[in-house]
Amino acid sequence: MHSMISDKPALAAQQRPFGAPAHVGVIMDGNGRWAASRGLPRLEGHRRGLEALRGAVRAAIDFGLDYLTVYSFSMENWSRPMQEVADLMGLLKRFIRHDLSDLDKANVKIRVIGRRDDLQEDIRTLLVEAEEATSANTGLNLVVAFNYGARQEIAAAARALAEDVAAGRVKACDIDETLFAQRLDTAGIPDPDLIIRTSGEKRLSNFLMWQAAYSEFVFLPMHWPDFDRKAFAAALAEFGSRERRFGGVTPAVEAGKART
Ligand code: IPE
Ligand code: IPE
Ligand code: MG
Repeated sequence: MHSMISDKPALAAQQRPFGAPAHVGVIMDGNGRWAASRGLPRLEGHRRGLEALRGAVRAAIDFGLDYLTVYSFSMENWSRPMQEVADLMGLLKRFIRHDLSDLDKANVKIRVIGRRDDLQEDIRTLLVEAEEATSANTGLNLVVAFNYGARQEIAAAARALAEDVAAGRVKACDIDETLFAQRLDTAGIPDPDLIIRTSGEKRLSNFLMWQAAYSEFVFLPMHWPDFDRKAFAAALAEFGSRERRFGGVTPAVEAGKART
């Protein structure tokens, strides 16, 4: 046995309070407005956003989450000014280069979803490095949605299945939700129980549209750089107060039914 691995903190799932979500998705929005309201350049907002991300990862570990998916760059974000796109790419590189060894020590397993082809070679290499270096870890699963778009992901899954059918590997009549989900970037990852969005906007902006079918949503008015452990805990508490039905009836009705 490799001692480095056994030394790492084990997943705190057992400590997860009953009713807490296993998978939280976060739409980290509002960096630009955070900066603008302070008379600072947008880049400063993104820098502070990276700090907030570091804090969110630490909190997710302490809260015992299994999965944290962070929306870092959407496929539509390419439409921003060239300099801002370059800044965001630079920050991702900084995050991986600077934080990879700490994340690895914290037993975090990194997985990146989104389209790699459009990214610069050095970023693609870093992403593969981050995934490979942490692939044996068994703690928090940190899913980084970078150059991610749900519609593009769904279209790509349809294309992959169409190719499988054309090649005779799959029968069209066998295509169902399970098979479809296996062709998504998130194959093998459970659906998010809770999706948090900061900045006051109340939309998905092309984030995990398939996977969010039964997610709970918490929209926070604060901007992402202000998102801290307290805000995270409050969002989890709000989640805990929700009643999820998945199309069924309330547990109370279910219990009543069982008695009759
Ligand atoms: C979120 O903050 C970061 C990314 C989308 C990459 P924004 O940059 O969208 O900040 P606002 O929404 O303009 O305030
Ligand atoms: C969503 O935020 C994308 C990320 C947080 C990475 P945007 O700021 O791009 O979303 P819109 O444009 O306000 O919908
Ligand atoms: Mg925004």
